[in-house]
Amino acid sequence: MRRPPFFKEMKMNEEVKDKLIAEAKKAAENAYCPYSGYAVGAAVLTADGKIYSGCNIENASYSLTLCAERVALAKAASDGAKKISAICVYSAGGKMPYPCGACRQFLAEFSDDPDVLATDGKAVEEHKLSELLPHTFR
Ligand code: THU
Repeated sequence: MRRPPFFKEMKMNEEVKDKLIAEAKKAAENAYCPYSGYAVGAAVLTADGKIYSGCNIENASYSLTLCAERVALAKAASDGAKKISAICVYSAGGKMPYPCGACRQFLAEFSDDPDVLATDGKAVEEHKLSELLPHTFR
């Protein structure tokens, strides 16, 4: 994508981090998870500084379930935002919401090496996608 010469990719700082966590937490309130009971919210930061969020959406045909991360990424991509700088995944469901393998690959499609935050509402872990998905297929 062509960008003006002054374009600076939006990166994480403490303020953006807090906002991403808050948006992911808010998105988890809309989780549709009658089968697992595990509510997840995700928020992505686009390279131009916008935030899109999503929640997990389960289905009676279990394998059709959408993870919160892919919902947030699809919302961003369908709105034209094809470059992601960071993602935050939130769940207070009792275990740390590390993105699943499919979501890691889906995230790789729209990013270089984004920050990946995971929080269970208490601890916040920070990783890089390259750490979670080495030897990424591109
Ligand atoms: N889930 C997510 O939405 N994101 C994750 O990072 C892990 C798992 C969802 C999928 C399913 O609805 C539920 O959590 C249990 O696996």
